[in-house]
Amino acid sequence: MLLSKLFIPLTKDLPSDAKIKSHQLMLRTGMIRQSAAGIYSWLPLGFKVMKKIEAVVREEQNKIGAQEMLMPTIQSADIWKESGRYNDYGEEMLRIKDRQGREMLYGPTNEELITDIFRSSVKSYKSLPQMLYHIQWKFRDEIRPRFGIMRCREFYMKDAYSFDLDEQSAKQSYNKMFYSYLQTFKRLELEAIPMAADTGPIGGDLSHEFIILAETGESNVYADKNIFAIDPSNYKFDDQSLEKMRKDFSSCYAVTDEKFKKDEFESNVKKDNQIMTKGIEVGHIFYFGDKYSKPLNCLVDHPDGKKVSVKMGSYGIGVSRLVGAIIEAKFNNDVMKWPRSVAPFDVVIIPSFNKNNLNNLEKANKIYSELTKIKLDVLLDDVEENISAKFKKHDLLGIPYQIIIGSKSEENKFEFKEVGKDAKMISLEEIIKIIKN
Ligand SMILES: Nc1ncnc2c1ncn2[C@@H]1O[C@H](COP(=O)(O)OP(=O)(O)O)[C@@H](O)[C@H]1O
Ligand SMILES: [Mg+2]
Repeated sequence: MLLSKLFIPLTKDLPSDAKIKSHQLMLRTGMIRQSAAGIYSWLPLGFKVMKKIEAVVREEQNKIGAQEMLMPTIQSADIWKESGRYNDYGEEMLRIKDRQGREMLYGPTNEELITDIFRSSVKSYKSLPQMLYHIQWKFRDEIRPRFGIMRCREFYMKDAYSFDLDEQSAKQSYNKMFYSYLQTFKRLELEAIPMAADTGPIGGDLSHEFIILAETGESNVYADKNIFAIDPSNYKFDDQSLEKMRKDFSSCYAVTDEKFKKDEFESNVKKDNQIMTKGIEVGHIFYFGDKYSKPLNCLVDHPDGKKVSVKMGSYGIGVSRLVGAIIEAKFNNDVMKWPRSVAPFDVVIIPSFNKNNLNNLEKANKIYSELTKIKLDVLLDDVEENISAKFKKHDLLGIPYQIIIGSKSEENKFEFKEVGKDAKMISLEEIIKIIKN
């Protein structure tokens, strides 16, 4: 892609409500544009990053046997009346009437709808367990949308639902998701801590929020440093090992405000190991048993003849929020570096040139065609502009590798820079090796 052809409306003027780095940067680099309070359009650059995050999330869901489907954004109020949440959900739910006067709503989440689908099609324990997910827009009429796409009203979420015959098997589904979340965030180069979360009236210890550490986060975080030493890759993907993994994580103190008790923290965690900081919730998983299957009558035949309500869990990841969360975690000293797995381009070529001397641009064009031939996603900065302005721009765009064609370039060697490291002079073959590695 040529930068001159790309639709990235870079802006310098920021609205006064853009208070955190990710919001500012996403506006400055034309990733998003606000269209109404808490509602955003995703412009090509932002959309590309979000789609890459979505692909990582999808792959890790598929790996644990969850199956993708797609439910609509608009739902009927009837099923919400059955579960009792139509009134409970309050003003966060956007309620709509269709032309026949039927009560509809823009889905804030999908427990009711998925339970309705399940109850009408699954009757026997033989069809269990199942895990289903979709990646779809949600709407929650937040009272105070803020921080750009981090806390907005319309957002893109992966939500999965598990169905099991009994609690033990439901826990195994929960553990698989727990594992899948750790893998997902690792591929996004994020350090996410699973934190015990409130389970509400159901009780038990089976709800975790996945929090990434960032100063601008909305949640206060209190944790034992040892939690970072637990490496999910040391566990096998079987029920016993995954149960042990979750227990090992749970044995390290890690909570947000809701569950925080000062004396508990101080007596459980040695002074040197105490982490007190802020974080961003990027995922939330929940086991809730028959909370929805019971009122919605989602029953299956049990092997011993009786009918039982299926045991369910739900598992969310804020796909659109992750775009901002990654920026909060990776933006440093006015320089952005996207994780390679979600970077908008693999590499950018930055030639220094002007209309009286197009030598460097020609060299850049040659490298561009070599790299695109081998299926790299390359951006060529073909805009005539002074080189320091170019560098500033690319500091913001955050493409992880740069090839700089300037006075230093030799016949077969180019200045190559991985963002955050020193530049070096190497051949195109070596450059390709590094990028493809
Ligand atoms: N208003 C929002 N804007 C952007 N992302 C959101 C918003 N609300 C929730 N999410 C994302 O969806 C995930 C699942 O949401 P959930 O836990 O149901 O919401 P909440 O924590 O607000 O009750 C959250 O972990 C978060 O990443
Ligand atoms: Mg939550």
